[in-house]
Amino acid sequence: MDTAPGAGQLDLRPDDLPDGLVVANRLGQVICFNAEAARLTGHRSDEALGRPVERVLPLEDPDGRPWWRLTDPYRGLATRSGQPERNLLLPGGREVLVTARYVRARPSGPVRRLVVALRGTDARKRTERSNAELIATVAHELRSPLTSVKGFTATMLDKWDRFTDEQKRLMLQTVDGDADRVTRLITELLDVSRIDSGRLEIRRQPVRLDEAVRRHVKTMVNGGCPVERFALRIPEPLPGLWADPDKIDQVLVNLLENAVRHGGGTVTIEMDRVPPTRTRQEGMAVTVSDEGPGIPEEAMHRVFTRFWRGSDRGGTGLGLYIVKGIVEAHGGTVTVGRSSGGGARFRFILPAGTPAFLA
Ligand SMILES: Nc1ncnc2c1ncn2[C@@H]1O[C@H](COP(=O)(O)OP(=O)(O)OP(=O)(O)O)[C@@H](O)[C@H]1O
Ligand SMILES: [Mg+2]
Repeated sequence: MDTAPGAGQLDLRPDDLPDGLVVANRLGQVICFNAEAARLTGHRSDEALGRPVERVLPLEDPDGRPWWRLTDPYRGLATRSGQPERNLLLPGGREVLVTARYVRARPSGPVRRLVVALRGTDARKRTERSNAELIATVAHELRSPLTSVKGFTATMLDKWDRFTDEQKRLMLQTVDGDADRVTRLITELLDVSRIDSGRLEIRRQPVRLDEAVRRHVKTMVNGGCPVERFALRIPEPLPGLWADPDKIDQVLVNLLENAVRHGGGTVTIEMDRVPPTRTRQEGMAVTVSDEGPGIPEEAMHRVFTRFWRGSDRGGTGLGLYIVKGIVEAHGGTVTVGRSSGGGARFRFILPAGTPAFLA
């Protein structure tokens, strides 16, 4: 074999490769068949060696045509240097992603070696499936409010004179509420897509968490929630926190709204310092607990996933996914558990102190 400079030190064995590797000599006989290729095809390496490559890898394209006949590396176009990635089928219908390189002694010369890389498609299939599911869910979530908007506006336009002002007002209020739902859903989806693609921008500045908590409780009380439903336990003094204030607001609003909407009884908001450990700097924790039904044990690992909803009390099930995304983008953690009152208990910890570039 050729040895590139440094290849000796590299000491790379074909079995170390994460992808399937099949190499054939100038006669088309298999001279290398690594462990991943054996796993993907179900052939043993020692049985594959020395056999014709098209027998060991009887690949077909999605229309069922034998791939080797279509590509014909040894007798095909002499200027070809390989094959781009293709989705092909192994016997039994197993899909693999295949790329090939034709190694020639000189340009347009005969193929001296054929190198084929194989990769399983399971991980890619999973992502595709989850994207397809996401689109289906989003379409469904958008359709129900829009169906209602369309229904009311069409009815009103059609029979304008037959409705009283009061009836029209009621219909318009519903339309208004549905339009808000769509706007909110789209805003949430934009956040989800930023989180998924790692583009969530965190603009850090000094944040007073205690003030933010008090402000949000006040807003909810002004919005009609009885003040007795909230209990604050905020110790003094609190360490300084550098965070993105708008994003922290989003986290607090969703946790408080959830506790009021999905939970019950008194909503207790506690703040405490988390002492530093060897691996983690000092942190600030906020715990929101309520006395409602809580999250069933078997669902706890799912609450932070997209679109998971335990009850039917409105909401799209994106709130906690965004909470987790925001907290983690700050270098923090969020957990769910059961409160002493039997309800849900959400706790997030953010790293405290000044960022390194200002210290
Ligand atoms: N404090 C709580 N008590 C009981 N169940 C809760 C509580 N918080 C959240 N849940 C459950 O977790 C689910 C997911 O919450 P999440 O905030 O992600 O979505 P949502 O509130 O339904 O919708 P959104 O926040 O996107 O408007 C909720 O539908 C609810 O069933
Ligand atoms: Mg919510």
